[in-house]
Amino acid sequence: MLPEIARIAEIAAGAKPLPFRVGFPQGRNRELTFYQYHGPISGAIFRSWGEHMPEYVAQSQWSSRFAFLMAAIGSAVGLGNIWRFPYLAGENGGSAFLLIYVAATLAMAMPVLIAELALGRMGGGSPIGSLRHIVRENCSSRFWELIGILATICAFLVLSYYCVIGGWTLRYVYLAIGGSFAQIGNAGSYAMFTDFMADPMAMISWHLGYMLLNVVIALGGLRKGIEKTVVVLMPLLFVLLFAMVIYGATMPGFATAVDFLFTPDFSKLTPFAVLSAIGQSFFALSVGLGSMIIYGAYLDKGANIPGCAVIITGADVLVALLSGLAIFPLVFSFALEPSSGPGLLFITLPIAFGQMSGGALTGAGFFLLVSVAALTSSISLLEVVVTRLEERFGMTRSVAAWLVGGVAWALGLVSLLSFNVWSGVYPLAWLGMMKTSSIFAVLDFFCLNLLIPVTALLICLYMGWVLAKGTIRDALGFGGEASFRSWRFCLRFVAPLGIISILAVALLS
Ligand code: PFF
Repeated sequence: MLPEIARIAEIAAGAKPLPFRVGFPQGRNRELTFYQYHGPISGAIFRSWGEHMPEYVAQSQWSSRFAFLMAAIGSAVGLGNIWRFPYLAGENGGSAFLLIYVAATLAMAMPVLIAELALGRMGGGSPIGSLRHIVRENCSSRFWELIGILATICAFLVLSYYCVIGGWTLRYVYLAIGGSFAQIGNAGSYAMFTDFMADPMAMISWHLGYMLLNVVIALGGLRKGIEKTVVVLMPLLFVLLFAMVIYGATMPGFATAVDFLFTPDFSKLTPFAVLSAIGQSFFALSVGLGSMIIYGAYLDKGANIPGCAVIITGADVLVALLSGLAIFPLVFSFALEPSSGPGLLFITLPIAFGQMSGGALTGAGFFLLVSVAALTSSISLLEVVVTRLEERFGMTRSVAAWLVGGVAWALGLVSLLSFNVWSGVYPLAWLGMMKTSSIFAVLDFFCLNLLIPVTALLICLYMGWVLAKGTIRDALGFGGEASFRSWRFCLRFVAPLGIISILAVALLS
């Protein structure tokens, strides 16, 4: 009956089909098509059950739980853990910052991660498609579709500048292998970094190389691209990281590093440090940008979302800790500055590699680790936009991947040039606190402190306050009532509180 109605609607009203891929219980996926037409009864929707699509199902679900976990951990573990976390901890008193970061991750970011994975599995499409589907299915206000739209915009913007830094990491692998760190001193390392920043052509080449890697992976799709990449690269990342920590443990500065990271000193904890720790917990766990929605959409119906979220969160925090244990022993052993800010990775560490025996190999291994972490994160950002184009315009994956990669690369040039040619351009100079912020800094601030928190807040409100409790309980598959209640409490009260404080400070300051 339903297909007939749909076909009549289509013919009569020149309906626009909006295909959705939807998973049903027992793994029997089908294509569900919404027919939306702008006739006298504008906005009316007809549905049709399409054919059984076994090939599609095969492509659009993770081949195993392991593959999903590697991809989700790969998305979470990135520059945020290995580059941002150590320098933020270094600047904000080490262990006290770490404590707040771990607490915020567990009470705020992890509940939102669970919500995103559930939204993806309920919606079965890109963030925009999933939210559209869920909103209609539950007769919610169309306002909530904003979640998918904001997440996709933010994923695209972050992708554009994340790939610029990704290019730096590749360049540093090359420099390390070429022996450029040998005996490099403070001034030498600083000059090596600033010379690179001052050379737009070199930066553009590495940026292009990094973006091409992303596109090539995206061309392979879920199983042949993302899965094949993460199941090899993520174990490699852990091996490299453990090797670095073991190496760090043999260094004289290891005890100081452990003390720095694990002996709490609350006198150093400023309100600003608390807010940075909360912001960091969201970014590091990849929430608020839709990556976890699309990865959740590829999950089978039987997957235990809260259990998976605990594993992803545990791995994410572990990598941040291990990165600290790999980096700070080098910093302290060579009497370098732990609070050297964003330059910690690219300026301070090469000095340490240059002074140690076997530093070329260790340095190359370390920067390879950073590149791998960045790559497995950026592919999840690319996937958000690529799936939307496939879904909305029926584009093939290769057209969508080249298009998104190309446009994100071109947009990334704006951030890239703000390190050299446009370094004096301060787009928000009229705003007191952004007086001397480059285009890159403004974009980063806008995404991290406004777009991501707003999206995460909307997710908390929609899942915590709007959607029916029963619908969510069924979607999540929580083991016990107590864990479901604690999750819901965090989503309704704790996470919004943290997010609103970040937003308030960002807007008021
Ligand atoms: N979590 C990543 C990191 O720590 O570097 C960044 C990121 C990747 C954020 C993908 C969001 C995302 F969707």
